[in-house]
Amino acid sequence: MDIQYVDRRGTDCNKWDGQQNMFGEEGLHAMWVADMDFKVADCVQEALHKYVDLGVFGYMRVPDSYYQACIDWEYENHGYKMEKEWIRFSPGVVSAFNWIIQFMTEKGDAVIVTTPVYYPFLHAVTNNERKLVTSDLINDHGNYSIDFLDFEKKIIENNVKLFILCSPHNPVGRVWKKEELRLLLDICKKHHVFVISDEIHQDLVYGKNEHVPSLLAGDYEDMMIMIIAPSKTFNLAGAQNSEVIIPNQTLRDKWDKYVKGIRVLGGNAFGYIAAEAAYRGGKEWLEQVKKQIQDNYQYLKDTFAERLPDAVVSPLEGTYLTWIDLSAYVAGSDMREFMQKKCRMAVDYGAWFGGDRFSGFIRINLATSLDNVKTGVEAICSNLV
Ligand SMILES: Cc1ncc(COP(=O)(O)O)c(C=O)c1O
Repeated sequence: MDIQYVDRRGTDCNKWDGQQNMFGEEGLHAMWVADMDFKVADCVQEALHKYVDLGVFGYMRVPDSYYQACIDWEYENHGYKMEKEWIRFSPGVVSAFNWIIQFMTEKGDAVIVTTPVYYPFLHAVTNNERKLVTSDLINDHGNYSIDFLDFEKKIIENNVKLFILCSPHNPVGRVWKKEELRLLLDICKKHHVFVISDEIHQDLVYGKNEHVPSLLAGDYEDMMIMIIAPSKTFNLAGAQNSEVIIPNQTLRDKWDKYVKGIRVLGGNAFGYIAAEAAYRGGKEWLEQVKKQIQDNYQYLKDTFAERLPDAVVSPLEGTYLTWIDLSAYVAGSDMREFMQKKCRMAVDYGAWFGGDRFSGFIRINLATSLDNVKTGVEAICSNLV
């Protein structure tokens, strides 16, 4: 099976057709929002076809086989053994972490994140009227690490109640090592900080890098909820289906009470069917997608090294999002003008991930064809010489 690029223009997809909101215009070369321009695995399409052919789309219980497929995937790919009773659902990882913030903290409580970070983390804190505390990752010429001293200091100073962990980390592409996770989570444990671990990118890791589920990194079951999903892995974001892993009974009771209050007790039928098929039969497809992403990354990195030697492209250990420091060439205040007016590109602006100190950076989505990556890279390089 070969992966297939799809020209999604004219399909009402956010990436190509929904740019107005974030960019104030349409028609830009799209390398932003994190979904793929690849057709899903055949097994997913076949399973959905079968369900469509049935022609009845009434209420559906969560199939036992779906739970099992998810449990098997996590064990076979990450060595983490989940029990069916621990698994809950949400129509997306973002909804799940917003809900957890609501039932695990009070208005005004401090929530910490390590910046730059996936911007809905920041919005989840401020939209829920919690206090946002940030601890910047250490940037050593594009190689990022956690500033443990700063992280702990901020927790103490602000009486932090909750930490949202991004593992692997969007946008800097780090796959946290077990020792790093332990240091980080031990600090949280010591100061009674609850942890939401967003592991949506867990399956998109490359080479020798290995994703360690946070719940497997140590004894953290009483202080953590982990969220995983098939959406990034198998390009199913529109199917709105993610899994919330809660081994601790007291925490599960809190989750259950909360979701009863908002009456979102399960996902939608199409999502279960697509996800189960992907977990069962999507591995080979995923390997091909990862290969394409790595090729795209290599091309981008090599071309920048040759033509823009002062651009800093962070190593891509995981995710399909590459984080690039263009500050040697473009002032942060000019980045929008440069990317949109000159390059005619839609990228995620660094400032979105934590403030103006990141405005010299951009994030580029590599889950597309090499031709699209070439178009974007050429636009940037040719407008900078
Ligand atoms: C770290 C992270 N969490 C969550 C999401 C989106 O999750 P969902 O679409 O399931 O709400 C993304 C998408 O880019 C992400 O990078």
